[in-house]
Amino acid sequence: MNRIYLDYNASTPIDPEVIKVMTPLLESNFGNPSTSHWAAKNAKEILNQARSQVAALLSAKNDEIIFTSGGSESNNHAIKGVYYALRNKGKHIITSSIEHPAVKNPLRFLEGEGAKVTYLPVDSTGRVHPAQVEAAITKETILISIMHSNNEVGTLQPIKEIAAIAKRNDILIHTDASQSIGKVPVSVKDLNVDLLTIAGHKLYAPKGFGALFIRENTPIETFIHGAGHEGGRRAGTENIFLAAGLGKACELAKKDAEENKIEPLRNYFWKELSSHYGSNIVLNGEIGSILPNTLNVSFKGYIGQDVLEQIPEIAASTGAACHSGKVQLSEVLEAMGVTKDMGKGTIRFSLGRYTTKEEIDQTLALLKDRIPKL
Ligand SMILES: Cc1ncc(COP(=O)(O)O)c(C=O)c1O
Repeated sequence: MNRIYLDYNASTPIDPEVIKVMTPLLESNFGNPSTSHWAAKNAKEILNQARSQVAALLSAKNDEIIFTSGGSESNNHAIKGVYYALRNKGKHIITSSIEHPAVKNPLRFLEGEGAKVTYLPVDSTGRVHPAQVEAAITKETILISIMHSNNEVGTLQPIKEIAAIAKRNDILIHTDASQSIGKVPVSVKDLNVDLLTIAGHKLYAPKGFGALFIRENTPIETFIHGAGHEGGRRAGTENIFLAAGLGKACELAKKDAEENKIEPLRNYFWKELSSHYGSNIVLNGEIGSILPNTLNVSFKGYIGQDVLEQIPEIAASTGAACHSGKVQLSEVLEAMGVTKDMGKGTIRFSLGRYTTKEEIDQTLALLKDRIPKL
């Protein structure tokens, strides 16, 4: 039996086309893009091209994109940067209760510095309600940070509606789109957000690299102080090798999101699972309002870790930890009101660019064989 990778929300392999763009640069391109001689010219061109590929994917302007070390840095920069720039105006930030730790923990850090944070609830499908965002706004609110889609259950948030509320109230809005890029179309023009996070390793580029969209004229403090790289917003000589990789990955991501070949395969997977397990399986989230690649399901009567141990050929994730007989659901499942009894048997399967129907059929056969209905 082949090993099957169904954990694309955790990370993706680097696409061969991305590797092809990056490899020659490692060998031949050492110029510092900030200098002005022949060795730099090429480096500068590569950096500019990469920036324009990222900008094109998002319908942004080139100088609205800065390169970062990944999703965590982009989120930290957006949240702390806005707080430090605007804390004299107000100290209140609105977020959801299902954000990734890369949003939650910078906010907790800022709470230690005097920020007030509202963590909005979600409904049973993992959705934040725009009316609740509006109701949480105070005169002190300076930022709304709500993820574009959730990494565990895949729920897509109504960011366009939330951004319209933010604009009406003259508040900045950031969205963590780490999980959405390449899975669904994402345009900053259409969403009308001020800040948006991208994580390279979720879209077939290398780990440790990403980008942050910062709308022109957004008040934001510099994150890494030093020389004037990235328009003075993030110091450090740019890594053109990783930038070129992310640029190419963004070009490929546009095609993936538009073609959406994964959704029919994911729907087939769910149809087969639900017809076999019936009431012994529950989908966390709602088909139609989750990412097209994500299937977060709870197997009744099981513990997620035991399910994964029974199917070691499959790489997937659990949604609960079990220590000394005690079950701890993920914060996301808890916020959605999933019961401990059902939630303890949660597995996240996430499909990707290289997932085939044969792999899904093999996974189904393994599950049916080794995880009997209880
Ligand atoms: C929604 C979300 N935000 C942020 C991150 C962090 O990104 P990175 O690993 O590039 O720092 C992740 C990665 O797991 C994620 O899923």
